[in-house]
Amino acid sequence: MLAFARHCASFVRYYGIVASLREVGPLIREVLFRTEERAERADAFDGRRGTDTSGMVMPWELKDQSNAPIDGNPYASLTSGRIRELLVAAESGASETVLVDLGSGKGRVLLVAQEFPFKRIVGVEWSGELHAIAQTNVAIAAVSGQVPDARFELLQMDAAAYAFPTEPLVVFLFNPFGAATMAHVVANLELTLAAYPRRVIVIYANPLHGDFFAQSAAFRTIAATRADALFESVAR
Ligand SMILES: C[S@@+](CC[C@H](N)C(=O)[O-])C[C@H]1O[C@@H](n2cnc3c(N)ncnc32)[C@H](O)[C@@H]1O
Repeated sequence: MLAFARHCASFVRYYGIVASLREVGPLIREVLFRTEERAERADAFDGRRGTDTSGMVMPWELKDQSNAPIDGNPYASLTSGRIRELLVAAESGASETVLVDLGSGKGRVLLVAQEFPFKRIVGVEWSGELHAIAQTNVAIAAVSGQVPDARFELLQMDAAAYAFPTEPLVVFLFNPFGAATMAHVVANLELTLAAYPRRVIVIYANPLHGDFFAQSAAFRTIAATRADALFESVAR
């Protein structure tokens, strides 16, 4: 109980009271019930590969705070099975498509994406520590011959500043950041779609800011639940 209280205090210190009240419902649930953690144990994704993509890392636990974004969420991942289902739902079969995971953390989505015929697999992560872990994970997978690793591109930067490639895209978002960064990301997507009309599918798990896509003239909603949402570019 004391640990939980300390956790909540750190949360409020980091995000402020208003954002904490708005954003923390799912996180508090996770801290109390450890649902993702239990699902992860059953998943055994890392055990099979020797990688480290598990666990939850709060932003204030990361050493490099100098370039921390204003509204970055903690690191956690979905089970590999759920990531696979979402990639299948987005019809990730086209070999000219580039997968971009915004807020890629330790790189689990990237490792699952290598099972699909993406042209390139891009991870964008602000934290140097998480980015380094993702690099190691991708290298481990390459050594064990699981991946054709030229496809991977790992970038340590703020997702708000990321310039999207001009190929068709699958953009993966697992509740990575708050409204301020999401507004930049959606504006960047609208700009690139206006310049290069093409198929862009957005997979948004835990879509707290799905309204940005639902209200954008550049996207239409394919499916939306509380757990995840799929959006598709209007112009092709
Ligand atoms: C919930 S985790 C998702 C990790 C990964 N996409 C996955 O599903 O396995 C969110 C990640 O977004 C990162 N993040 C938050 N804000 C960011 C930003 N502005 N730019 C890049 N990464 C960000 C966090 O550090 C964290 O690793």
